[in-house]
Amino acid sequence: MATADRPAPEGIAVGVDVGGSGIKVSVVDVVHGTLIGPRLRIATPQPSTPDVVVPVIVRTVRRALKEAGIDRSDVAVGVGMPAVVIDGVTRSAANIDPMWLDYDLGSHLRQAMKRPVYVLNDADAAGLAEMRFGAGVGERGVVFVLTLGTGLGSGMFNDGVLVPNSELGHMEIRGRDAERRSAAVARTRRGLSWKAWASDLDEHLHAIDKLFSPNLIILGGGVSKNADKFIPRLTIRPRVVPATLRNDAGIVGAAMAAAERYVDGDPTLKR
Ligand code: BGC
Repeated sequence: MATADRPAPEGIAVGVDVGGSGIKVSVVDVVHGTLIGPRLRIATPQPSTPDVVVPVIVRTVRRALKEAGIDRSDVAVGVGMPAVVIDGVTRSAANIDPMWLDYDLGSHLRQAMKRPVYVLNDADAAGLAEMRFGAGVGERGVVFVLTLGTGLGSGMFNDGVLVPNSELGHMEIRGRDAERRSAAVARTRRGLSWKAWASDLDEHLHAIDKLFSPNLIILGGGVSKNADKFIPRLTIRPRVVPATLRNDAGIVGAAMAAAERYVDGDPTLKR
């Protein structure tokens, strides 16, 4: 039952953010973009093959719902994956185990959890949340939300509408994947100064601007808390701002996607 301090059931979904080092789960109030109950974080099992990761997702979702005091079976689950995702199937595996290639995660989770499930790219999920509740609110035209972490993820929006699976981390720059130099781990892995890394990131952003002429680029991922160390050094024409939702964007966006696709009656959400 909806109470004064709890949103109506249709305004609730579970968000899951699967990353290279952690799997983060929380129940989300998708109307306000806030977490309900605890934010659970489980270390990603190694090797992170689907047969070990799927049971961890199932167990952690169950725990998150229980600890949030929600027992409805129609609460949807959204899962952000660091991969191209088409119709619930992971279609790439750049920074995850190759066993994820062509894996029908949507069907497996639906079968295991007996609830509506929506799977999408992790940066698309973070982007949805950032556009609705963060630095992208009210921004029109072409906007990119880039997540700088182990890889570089991209969420592409036009007038607030997501164009999924843009994968700008894999643009080719100097003969290799751009994310090898512009992702946040590229700085620590190569022991670079902020200045040197900002210049590599700048080169990637110039290439993005040349192809897409965005109005705004929002930079997210843990590194965005150090935005003052690199954003002022960027030389591109579009505005660049740090993301404001930080760590929770992936969870909130995945939950939003699940709740909204569910309400829209998306046929990929088989019960
Ligand atoms: C993957 C993307 C993902 C990004 C951030 C890249 O290596 O190809 O799908 O969004 O990392 O996790």
